Amino acid sequence: DASDIEKGTYPHYMLKEIDEQPFVMRNIIKHYQNEDGNLKLDDDIREAMKETDRIYIVACGTSYNAGLVGKQLIENIAKVPVEVHIASEFVYNMPLLSEKPLFIFISQSGETADSRAVLVAIKKLGHKALTITNVPGSTLSREANYTLNLYAGPEIAVASTKAYTAQIAVLAILAVDAARAQGIELDFNPLQELAIVANAIESLTDQKETMERVAQEYLSETRNAFFIGRAVDYFVCLEGSLKLKEISYIQAEGFAGGELKHGTIALIEDGTPVIALSTQEHVDLSIRGNVKEVAARGANTCVISTEVTKDEGDRIVLPEVHEYLTPLVSVVPLQLIAYYAALHRDCDVDKPRNLAKSVTVE
Ligand code: AGP
Repeated sequence: DASDIEKGTYPHYMLKEIDEQPFVMRNIIKHYQNEDGNLKLDDDIREAMKETDRIYIVACGTSYNAGLVGKQLIENIAKVPVEVHIASEFVYNMPLLSEKPLFIFISQSGETADSRAVLVAIKKLGHKALTITNVPGSTLSREANYTLNLYAGPEIAVASTKAYTAQIAVLAILAVDAARAQGIELDFNPLQELAIVANAIESLTDQKETMERVAQEYLSETRNAFFIGRAVDYFVCLEGSLKLKEISYIQAEGFAGGELKHGTIALIEDGTPVIALSTQEHVDLSIRGNVKEVAARGANTCVISTEVTKDEGDRIVLPEVHEYLTPLVSVVPLQLIAYYAALHRDCDVDKPRNLAKSVTVE
């Protein structure tokens, strides 16, 4: 049960929380479904989504990374323009707001001070806010006009895992509800597709030895590591690199494949680990081109692909899910690789140095 805050037989909360993700997906399906099997969302939220001419997502860290995926989902599915902002930067770079802005705060804890500061500021301006959080009754939930819950159960490990996948799942549901409210025809049923995702995640959490081997082989000695991807894979690379740096202290960066040649490729040396994500057919050729470029400069490359993009030599092949939802699956090996890298480097997985679970000060 995801609401169990005991570690049980798990050595770390992080591993337990990674393993809980299929359960969380099914929990979300249950909570966002009515008796007829249709989507269930508050009418007020539907109205707010229908009313707005531009959405401003505000968040920090992993929740920000989920917001980047959320932008794509909302723009592709509901056809509403979305901007994503780092909460702590918002005050300095306050965007010119549209006529009918709607703010979406994404926060696992609902207590992040940087996000709250923005919420307070935009409320003063008279704007509406929706908070997506794992903690009902949290500050960001109480102070917003609307709340969507993640139903992920308590997340104890400092490194966020199940909250990220829950955030993306709920954003997909929100996008579809908003599309339907506008009469947009869709052949994407998020509840059915999330059930497929749950099974896909399960098949990956069953392959822990593979992820452990990759972690050992690529990350046990190194001081740095790169994650490369294009399109939505790039956003997942940002999350994969954040996971790795926060718990293993390896300097890790996520890069858009096409940006490598504009600077980053200078860092590639003999043996530099480069983990590449290729989950989408339309970017497969280009990202594999990037993999060749770094390999030619000595990088130790590891490709993670899917059933549709797989090629000989790929280290991990992800089960197929709806293309909108690939981040829910592709992030799982990156979470596990980060976990095992930290473990093999004797790091305190659940409580990394210098970090707190929720950052309640500016
Ligand atoms: C994630 O692994 C981090 N520890 C951190 O980036 C976190 O996501 C961030 O502080 C935001 O927290 P929140 O979702 O509780 O607002």
